[in-house]
Amino acid sequence: MMMDKHQLARAAEYVRQHWPMAKPRAGLILGSGWDMAADFFHKRATLSYAVIPGLGASTVAGHSGQLHWCEAAGVETFLFHGRRHFYEGADWTAVATPVYLMKQFGVKVLMLTNAAGGLHENLDAGDLMVIADHINLMADNPFIGPHDPAWGPRFPDLSQVYCPRLGNRLERIFQALELPFRSGVYAAVTGPVFETPAEVRMLRALGADAVGMSTVPEAVLAHSAGIRLAALACIANRAAGLHPRELTHEDVIATTQAALPRLRGVLENFWKELPDELTATHPPA
Ligand code: HPA
Repeated sequence: MMMDKHQLARAAEYVRQHWPMAKPRAGLILGSGWDMAADFFHKRATLSYAVIPGLGASTVAGHSGQLHWCEAAGVETFLFHGRRHFYEGADWTAVATPVYLMKQFGVKVLMLTNAAGGLHENLDAGDLMVIADHINLMADNPFIGPHDPAWGPRFPDLSQVYCPRLGNRLERIFQALELPFRSGVYAAVTGPVFETPAEVRMLRALGADAVGMSTVPEAVLAHSAGIRLAALACIANRAAGLHPRELTHEDVIATTQAALPRLRGVLENFWKELPDELTATHPPA
């Protein structure tokens, strides 16, 4: 399951050949149901994941699998419409390719989004959570394998994966839009099964506020590569045992889509403020 660095290099060469002028400074990976939340971006060009070496078409409903080279608020952005997940059984190369491309093309700030199950008693379906920290319960890590210094040190420090400045910016945006939100800890499991009620009690006891099947691998890769991160979870459901009925992927997508106007509002405002973040020189947070 190790990352294949030659395949990653081929992906970057492929995109470079198609888009020699691309100079993105920001990136966005859209999670389940988030598609339309990014419809304010102006698209310059699109490549399907299926043609990018090592990335491959998404196999999950609600993940269209397209990389858009686009722009919003004057910020050139690589927008990954849909993500590859560990549970799809490809290898870490597919999960790492978007982050590798962003790193190679010079992205400085990355927003990760997902749909998650709510564990905290105050997180209901449709709520948004700013991810402040995470717990990796995937029992795997994309960095297992030979060390490639291109990604940073052999033993990356994770004491501050999600940039506090960007987190504060998100919180201010929520306040300005008068939207409720919570900052919390995201636990990543492999899936594709949802949790059992006993596992949900365990996750809560471990200090997690939400649970999902993504985001953490990309966060670890991007942070190690020096990209500043913000991450948002849309709570698609209360997790198993806290939810009134069986969990389905269709419900996850439907709830996230019902939250769309809020998701879009937050993303659009975040991008409007990004030029400040990209030009300001600040001391490390
Ligand atoms: N658990 C794990 N992943 C999820 C959930 C859940 O309840 N909802 C959406 N993604």
